[in-house]
Amino acid sequence: MRVGLLTGGGDCPGLNAVIRAVVRKGIEAHGWETVGFRNGWQGPIEGLVRPIGLDDVEDILTRGGTILGSSRTNPYKVDGGVERIRATLAEHGVDALVAIGGEDTLGVAKRLTDDGIGVVGVPKTIDNDLGATDYTFGFDTAVHIATEAIDRLRTTAESHHRALVVEVMGRHAGWIALHSGLAGGANVILVPERQFSVDQVVAWVERRFEREFAPIIVVAEGALPEGGQEKLLTGEKDAFGHVRLGGIGTWLAEEIAERTGKESRAVVLGHTQRGGTPTAYDRVLATRFGLHAVDAVQDADFGVMVALRGTDIVRVKLSEATAELKTVPLERYKEAEVFFG
Ligand code: F6P
Repeated sequence: MRVGLLTGGGDCPGLNAVIRAVVRKGIEAHGWETVGFRNGWQGPIEGLVRPIGLDDVEDILTRGGTILGSSRTNPYKVDGGVERIRATLAEHGVDALVAIGGEDTLGVAKRLTDDGIGVVGVPKTIDNDLGATDYTFGFDTAVHIATEAIDRLRTTAESHHRALVVEVMGRHAGWIALHSGLAGGANVILVPERQFSVDQVVAWVERRFEREFAPIIVVAEGALPEGGQEKLLTGEKDAFGHVRLGGIGTWLAEEIAERTGKESRAVVLGHTQRGGTPTAYDRVLATRFGLHAVDAVQDADFGVMVALRGTDIVRVKLSEATAELKTVPLERYKEAEVFFG
């Protein structure tokens, strides 16, 4: 059997651990030939393919990013995309695909399976917002990076009696903000799931200053003040003609400075949260996902995604995998409020 691998969407620590596990088990346990497609779905569309053997995956377990490259190409948005994938697979004798990606990549994997191409999905995202799995690899690493940053920012904030706003990733879900905020002892945590009152944030910040401590505010990039996006519009247009949103972290730091008269700084962690070596937890989860994806391909159980449920790796239908975004429940958020201010 010849099996192709690809990684799609934003990268994430642990992708290489999945690739290594699939190649290793596929070759050693089942005598597969494994090939890698470059840059997500662009690879099979454009025939960007090369064999991957045991030597290629020898030292990649600890490496961040993806040796295959990634892109957000969607074959359903490319002229003749699906037919070109079919032709590439036929030309190279590829029997099945393992697609490692987030919501978009897995959505394509589902449609391709419906269109008769055998795909098994492996979930990834640092945002941890895929509904069908308890955790995605990459999340733990991102939380570690953000927590370390909070720890470092706290000491400089204390020295200068400043408020520090730390903006973390999370467009639709506040998992990184909630977990890093709890782990780093943040004094305010703001998530996209709940619009926040700037007056309330200012009150918490002032209370913190009154007790002579420096406030640390962790804000997810998708969090919004009450009144919504309009408050953040800068009026500038980006390259696509869309009105640009001011970054929430910078906006909030300015509001805090203006309303409290205290110095305030914003730090946007951005893509540092996606780079570098995965934590041990993410290496293990990614490896287990890879091993179980091989089993699904071997069973010809296509149209499924491997997922973590409790401590077990299970298979779920790809339709279920992409049906619902997993956001932070209100009760989980409220648990943290006792630490605010
Ligand atoms: O992977 C999800 C994510 O990390 C989001 O939290 C973030 O908004 C986005 O990717 C940014 O990705 P890019 O800059 O690669 O488009």
